[in-house]
Amino acid sequence: MIVYLNGRFLPREEAKISPEDRGFLFADAVYEVVRFASGRPYRLAEHLARMRDGLTALQIAIEPLFFPGVAGQLLEENGLDLEDALVYAQVSRGAAPRAHAFPSPGTPPTIFAFARLTDPPPPPEGGRAIFAPDERWGRCDVKTVMLLPNVLAFEKAREADAAEAILVRDGIAWEGTKANLFAVSGEVLRTAPKGPRILPGVTRAAALEAALDLGFAIEERPIAVEELFSSDEVFLASTTLWTYSLVEIEGRKIGNGRPGPVAARIREALQAEFRGARVRLAT
Ligand code: PDD
Repeated sequence: MIVYLNGRFLPREEAKISPEDRGFLFADAVYEVVRFASGRPYRLAEHLARMRDGLTALQIAIEPLFFPGVAGQLLEENGLDLEDALVYAQVSRGAAPRAHAFPSPGTPPTIFAFARLTDPPPPPEGGRAIFAPDERWGRCDVKTVMLLPNVLAFEKAREADAAEAILVRDGIAWEGTKANLFAVSGEVLRTAPKGPRILPGVTRAAALEAALDLGFAIEERPIAVEELFSSDEVFLASTTLWTYSLVEIEGRKIGNGRPGPVAARIREALQAEFRGARVRLAT
């Protein structure tokens, strides 16, 4: 596997990051995950805009302009340029002796990127979810690598043999550990509003657009936990999943206990857009 680190493409075994990297010491870093079909990115501009917002929020002074060229070369070097693949980019504030204060202005950020095949599609029969307390910080809209609350909640789901944990705070079901959450009631599609409590998912935005096209009304507002159980459908949406129906939450059936048509129609719309995407990367 060839990875990218700080301007070089090299075998993964040779990619070494300083133990004083602030990503390691302080989770002082952001990341992004973009999906590619045969080298064509899905909604690249949206991913780059989110990464730019994250870098700005953290005051890391670089532009994500490196991403398209690096991604194109990673796909090529790893024989993934004809595949359905993901490219991850991780950007930290760089390495410096441990101190809370930002390092001196000349300290270069650390940029690490790698490509891999996408995950296999989630099971068509949908999945089960549990609730977990949302213990994340107050800026969940920034895609930082500070994912420990997500990791712990996901592990709780895995131990319960569930596919995902829904993060709950103040009685609101905000999102999954790595995907946005949607609920369908009749002709209405609900999801939490953009803001500090959720990541503004690229797939979330695409799903809302697709739902509008399909004639659904959209409500971007907090979803109370109890509302999930009176919904016809509940599903997740993310870069890796497209959409994924949750058919049971905390042992209670959602709707008729089977994946619903709305998640499926939205997934088809997103995949059709992906297959038709025309933007090619400059390599
Ligand atoms: N996760 N919410 C959270 C907490 C996420 O981590 C993600 C993405 C999403 C969906 O965002 P998008 O549609 O832009 O992928 C929502 C990525 C895929 C990951 O960490 O692997």
